Amino acid sequence: MYNITYYHKLIINKEITIAQNERKSIHGQWSSKVLFIFAATGSAVGLGNIWKFPWMAAENGGGAFVIVYLASVALIALPIMIAEILIGRRGKQNPVNSLRYLSKEASQVKVYEVDHDLNRTKQTKYQHHNQEDYTNWELIGWMGVISGIIILSFYSVIAGWTISYIFKSFSGLFNQVTIDGATSLFKKFTSDAERQLAWHTIFMFMTCYIVSKGVRGGLEKAIKFLIPGLFMILLILTGYVTTLSGFTEGLRYLFLPDLNKITASVVWSAMGMAFFSLSIGMGALMIYGSYLSNKFSIFEVTSIVAFADTFVAILAGIIIFPIVFTYHLDPTTAGPGLIFQTLPIAFGSMPGGETFGTLFFILLFFAAITSAISLIEPAVTLLIENFRHTRAEASLKIGFVTWLVGIGTIFSFNYWQDVTILGMNFFNLLDALTSKVLLPLGGFSMAIFVGYLVKRRTSVAELKMSQSMYTIWRVLIRYIAPVAVMVIFTNGFM
Ligand code: PFF
Repeated sequence: MYNITYYHKLIINKEITIAQNERKSIHGQWSSKVLFIFAATGSAVGLGNIWKFPWMAAENGGGAFVIVYLASVALIALPIMIAEILIGRRGKQNPVNSLRYLSKEASQVKVYEVDHDLNRTKQTKYQHHNQEDYTNWELIGWMGVISGIIILSFYSVIAGWTISYIFKSFSGLFNQVTIDGATSLFKKFTSDAERQLAWHTIFMFMTCYIVSKGVRGGLEKAIKFLIPGLFMILLILTGYVTTLSGFTEGLRYLFLPDLNKITASVVWSAMGMAFFSLSIGMGALMIYGSYLSNKFSIFEVTSIVAFADTFVAILAGIIIFPIVFTYHLDPTTAGPGLIFQTLPIAFGSMPGGETFGTLFFILLFFAAITSAISLIEPAVTLLIENFRHTRAEASLKIGFVTWLVGIGTIFSFNYWQDVTILGMNFFNLLDALTSKVLLPLGGFSMAIFVGYLVKRRTSVAELKMSQSMYTIWRVLIRYIAPVAVMVIFTNGFM
């Protein structure tokens, strides 16, 4: 009936936002903006800030690492975090579907019919450029789902250490403990595979239980007291370390960078740490963004989360390094055991240390579980939305696979400690694969996707930023962040 020559294909700048504004995730929405901020902070603040950040800083030259880390957060991680939440909020589904939705939307053009009698055009329908265009972008979602499972597999083991340390502290094991005492306590624990397996199993079970009940209910309740509690206890510990003889040396180590120590490998580790710590590059925040109402400014909530996360990591460094220098520990050799070998000494010698120690590890456990939930949620929603699972079935299946992979990490500290692949044990390999490869790659792809594929009018509508902030973000997401990730990645790899 209609001849194609009668149509003009026009891409116009005004979008039909009414339909978009009414879309909601089938899993519900956060009941307020504050809850989204709490949930995203709960995802970001976790073992990464308190357990991994000091260890990474120690291994990579202290201040040199910290300065590159801060730069990575501001120039790479923050803009990508905004992009990731944007994809989630607009897509409103699991990462795979959200990416599909957005790429479809981006490839739409409005088709106009020319009415020759009235001499005007009228819109008749939407049409896609090319049906195949948008399927490849879903791969970012798939990669994220896999990264989440791998990270959670070792994350759960370390969270298990945390639970065990709650009881160690409570039973007075840290009282007056010496540096050798704390080290041998840790070594004895990690050489015991069965005990670690028990805690790992308990932690995975709890995570799956909460996720099977739906993220919002449990999470909203837990996070309300977690965040303030964690801040409080970190401030108390900071107060305590100011009294230590190694306080200034610790601060100097953390904040006075020796610029000669900034190597390609340090930069790579710092960038990976920024992705890990802010929970970006794998769809965790995309999922949380999908539960965010369209009313709120993504930029505002993102800045708060990034600030809180960085603050906690730096605070953890301020606490750990004075202890390290006061007790003459070698920061470079402790590895992932760093906080488990230093903090007990502090708790053992401070007044009320038994209580503070117990509280600290309880809070760290909560911080870990709120992150764990966000690590598993992308995979769980994928099974629910695309493979017709119930929430319970999905959590159980993904939980089981994750638990199984986690056993490899447990063995890395005992039976398999001498087994190395590419010079790394199983745990270090998974950690490097995710932080240094998969998350940056995911973040890079999201930057390209949102920076170049998603229409400008879409990002303007979602972000609701001032003109100047939007321009800064757009430059960062299109040019600075992706180029930096690629350069750092290639240099590091060489
Ligand atoms: N950001 C969390 C932490 O610092 O402990 C870990 C994490 C959670 C990483 C969720 C990645 C993620 F998607």
